[in-house]
Amino acid sequence: MTQDPHANSRVEACHIIELDKHHHANGNLTVVEDNSPIPFKIRRTYYLYDIPGGESRGGHSHHNLYQLIVAISGSFDVVLDDGVHQRRFTLNRPYQGLLIVPGIWRVLDNFSSGSVCLCLASEHYDEKDYVRDYETFLTLTANKRTE
Ligand code: TYD
Repeated sequence: MTQDPHANSRVEACHIIELDKHHHANGNLTVVEDNSPIPFKIRRTYYLYDIPGGESRGGHSHHNLYQLIVAISGSFDVVLDDGVHQRRFTLNRPYQGLLIVPGIWRVLDNFSSGSVCLCLASEHYDEKDYVRDYETFLTLTANKRTE
C-alpha cells in the first residue's frame, strides 16, 4: 500500500515559482499554460475575492492535491504547516505563485482590502481529498514527530 503524502510532506518542498511577466508601457501581462514552470497539469482554477477584513481561509490539507496560489491583486499571507515545521509566505506579486504540495496544512490570512487569490489546482474538486480537522492532520503526520 502506498503511504499517504502526509507522512512525508515537507514545507521545504513548497516554494515560490516565478511566472513570466510581459512588461509593457500600457500594462503588464502574465501567462500560465501547460508548458509553464508549474510542476502539475492544471485541472481546475478558482479564485477568492470579497474577503472581509480580518477573515482567514483554508484551514485544511489535501491527500493528493497540488496547488499554485497567486495574489492576483493585493496581498495576503499563506501559513504552511507539515506537522513539524511552519512557514509563513507573504504573497503580493501577480507574477509569483506559491507551490503547495500534498499533505501540507494551510491557512490564508492577512488579506488586504480588495485582494484576489487565484488558485490553480492539479485535480477537480473532491471533498474526500480534504483533511479539515487539525487533530486528524496531526495523526496523519505523527510519524514525523517520532523520527
Ligand atoms: P474551501 O476549499 O474550504 O475554501 P477555502 O480553502 O478557500 O477556505 O471551499 C469552500 C467551499 O466551496 C466548500 O463548501 C466547498 C466549495 N468548493 C467547491 O464547491 N468547489 C471548489 O473547487 C472549491 C475550491 C470549493
